[in-house]
Amino acid sequence: MGKKLRISSKTECDALIIGAGGAGLRFGVELLEHKPGLKIVAVTKVGHPQKSHTNTAQGGLAAVDPEDPFDDPVYHMFDTWKGSDCSADQNIIKKIVESAWEQVIWLENHGMHFSRNEEGRLSKRTFGGHTVRFGEASAFRAIYEADRTGKGIMDTLWFEALKGGISFLNQSVATELLFKGNRCAGAVIFNQKNGKFVTVLSKVTVLATGGSGQLYRVTTNCRQNTGDGVGLTLRAGLPVMDPEAVQFHPTGIVGPGILASETLRSVGGILRNKDLEPFMERYAPAMKELAPRDLVARAIENEIREGRGVVNPDHKIEHVWIDLRHLSDYVHDVQIPEVSGFFKKFVNLNPKKDLCPVRPSNHYHMGGIPTDEFGRVMADKRRPIDSLFAVGECASASFHGFNRLGTNSLLELITMGKFAGQKALEYLDQGVESPEGKPGEKTFGLFSQFLEANGKESVFTLRRELQSLMTEKVGIYRRASGLEEAMERIRELRERAIHAPIENKSLLMNQELILRWELENLLWLAFATARAALERKESRGAHFREDYPERRDEYHHHTLVRMERFGRLEISSRPIDMSLYNKKGAHWERFGILERKY
Ligand code: FUM
Repeated sequence: MGKKLRISSKTECDALIIGAGGAGLRFGVELLEHKPGLKIVAVTKVGHPQKSHTNTAQGGLAAVDPEDPFDDPVYHMFDTWKGSDCSADQNIIKKIVESAWEQVIWLENHGMHFSRNEEGRLSKRTFGGHTVRFGEASAFRAIYEADRTGKGIMDTLWFEALKGGISFLNQSVATELLFKGNRCAGAVIFNQKNGKFVTVLSKVTVLATGGSGQLYRVTTNCRQNTGDGVGLTLRAGLPVMDPEAVQFHPTGIVGPGILASETLRSVGGILRNKDLEPFMERYAPAMKELAPRDLVARAIENEIREGRGVVNPDHKIEHVWIDLRHLSDYVHDVQIPEVSGFFKKFVNLNPKKDLCPVRPSNHYHMGGIPTDEFGRVMADKRRPIDSLFAVGECASASFHGFNRLGTNSLLELITMGKFAGQKALEYLDQGVESPEGKPGEKTFGLFSQFLEANGKESVFTLRRELQSLMTEKVGIYRRASGLEEAMERIRELRERAIHAPIENKSLLMNQELILRWELENLLWLAFATARAALERKESRGAHFREDYPERRDEYHHHTLVRMERFGRLEISSRPIDMSLYNKKGAHWERFGILERKY
């Protein structure tokens, strides 16, 4: 079987984009704006870039309007810092927040249809944890296109990508990164449509493969979000940062787990338990429903644990309600039409009349491939890899620390995509490099193993088992015994996966093969996540340890995990940048280690 696998061809380009969602395309479009005519190849696992997960983003993009008399970038920086549980890098917070408005204008000038108010100005809504005057009142700084902002962004970038001549390789995945010394030379790509492996040599390469929500049983993420970029990076011997920082969105629609946007709470939706009590008052007396996500998600789970959840008689999943019945028809029909429609479509309820069932659903990985402020992938604490970038959810710069505020992810992917594109221009004057070693060797080792396995287990069942394990032991609540058990069982799952057969041995359009490759990526990331969560003996943001419920200063650092071989893991740390605090500029005292109350 191994003989069948070979590199069919070699191609060269200026830039290789791995993952053609919002972040990857923003990177490519930035390059083209400076250097039209570049040869850019964008690889996407899905059938069309418009099927990227960015498309599903609902609520908006955070940006302080310079003409807003109430808001100020320093408030947004403070909220992001406090929201992150004092774990985001302050140099990144400053850089992204200060570029936010310019990016809104950029999107609008490139054709995005942001919603506007009756005076014709950009509409704004509030989101959890976003405040003015350092927490005194809610800030209205999420700019949006109804409740389908991600789609607006993708339409805009897709058009620009086509205009600039980016070539797309759909239904293709990167299976191996190629290097020459400290420089990335491109990647091996597997094209499912023709079943061929090709070497793409590039002057610059960007990883933009999105998130990893498929690690969990219930997620707001698309089916394709399987941590592929992180798996690729780990197998290349590079570190991953803060994998234990996993976000659960408070309101997934019970059953499918689909996102019921925070917008619902922003426009006045109220969370109620089985007694119809608006319970958030007990957990976050000031911000209630609009407290940051980690707190609201835990509050909901706590209501359920303490017997105040509602049990659905059909599927027995416990949940709480979101009450939208008091909202006007205008709010339902104009501000939240998509989400209202989801409740009708997926659970046959009318949010104008019915209480709607919600429960936390896995949503976002704050951790990922560590980068510097230019999006360059870091080989360790200090050394960037030349010409290799990572942007979007697969990357961690870290703007979000251990808890991301809603609407900060679209902001991050747009700004970091641009910054990385700008920096990448510096690498374009050099030619492509011939990589060290034999391109494809690692890939063929892995794929031969997949194709030759002849045990009895089903790849799909193993994926399901992994999701259940992660949900139960490495989910919203964690403790040492559960994490240790998770690590042991992930090792076992990997052993079983090695023998899991693929019935269809063809390389052409073989979904089973892709499923197996995704399982490999999920297993690698799962192990790194459980191990890092065990190491962090404290609670910080979305990482909550029942056996260590407080944040502890001795863990005030990022986790770096390296695992070139499965299960052989090295853990080190990277300091959290405190430059806003250390430089003692205006309001510096707001950026120290804060008590986190809402
Ligand atoms: O709730 C939402 O609309 C999600 C937004 C986000 O994750 O930023």
